[in-house]
Amino acid sequence: MRLKGTVAWVVGGSSGIGAAVARELACRGATVAISARRNDQLHDVAGGDMLVVPADVTDPASVSAAAERVRQELGPIDLAVLSAGYWKQMDPADWDTGVFDEHLRVNLSGMSNAIAAVLPGMLLRRHGVIAGIASLAGYRGLAGSEAYGATKAAQINLLESLRVHIARTGVRVTTICPGFVRTGLTAGNRFPMPFIIDAGQAARSICDGLERERTEIVFPVRMALLMKAARLVPSRVWTTLWGSVPLPDTSPTGRPDRDQRKQGAP
Ligand SMILES: NC(=O)c1ccc[n+]([C@@H]2O[C@H](COP(=O)([O-])OP(=O)(O)OC[C@H]3O[C@@H](n4cnc5c(N)ncnc54)[C@H](OP(=O)(O)O)[C@@H]3O)[C@@H](O)[C@H]2O)c1
Repeated sequence: MRLKGTVAWVVGGSSGIGAAVARELACRGATVAISARRNDQLHDVAGGDMLVVPADVTDPASVSAAAERVRQELGPIDLAVLSAGYWKQMDPADWDTGVFDEHLRVNLSGMSNAIAAVLPGMLLRRHGVIAGIASLAGYRGLAGSEAYGATKAAQINLLESLRVHIARTGVRVTTICPGFVRTGLTAGNRFPMPFIIDAGQAARSICDGLERERTEIVFPVRMALLMKAARLVPSRVWTTLWGSVPLPDTSPTGRPDRDQRKQGAP
């Protein structure tokens, strides 16, 4: 797709990958609107060059009102980049259903709420691209990623299901699966993050993929190959491979030593 002149709405645009994509889209000539909860952060990213529309993806009314404001101020939305996300490592010794549910609310329902806000308009115009940011963590079960990975796998399936369902409408769906990217989301991770890249590099890969009308945008290449290969590993072998990772102490009094845990997800 031609990004120059496109009306693009980045949901989750106040920091990290979403902010970098918003800047890259603006550099490539798109007219950009950004949404998230933190108003000050949004204004910092916008730098006066983007429309700022605060919204909370967990609230369908908030997201739909934000999309309406973008349409009123900038015109019909050609591209929606859905980047809002939440990650917290799960602890088997202290299973936190609140944390699990927050992943569902932000990552899964949040993506659905944003899709609901743009899809009817795109279908009416028989034009538009919905680009959802999932993760390579959705490819395979990773220790510590029980909540995050489950929602990322669900996002991958959601986006593919929607893509095939509306394939003949003129509206396209793109699945974006990054590996590790240096952002606030990964800043607290204490495990190795192989092949980690900067948000600016991620944004360039995403915008290049959008321009080439890729169905899936997966990067960086070495992490993508690793995780695609991991999908072919039988589950028994996968479990054995993870068996070499030190387990947390799951006794009633024991607490896992976070620093010793080689777990994680992009
Ligand atoms: N970093 C990585 O290694 C990596 C790898 C693969 C995939 N991803 C995915 O990439 C996406 C962006 O993550 P990031 O790394 O850029 O992290 P980030 O810097 O923490 O950005 C997350 C964005 O989501 C927004 N957000 C969170 N909850 C929200 C809510 N309830 N309503 C509206 N916006 C909300 C945040 O804005 P506010 O706090 O202002 O609301 C922020 O703009 C996520 O979907 C993440 O899962 C990241």
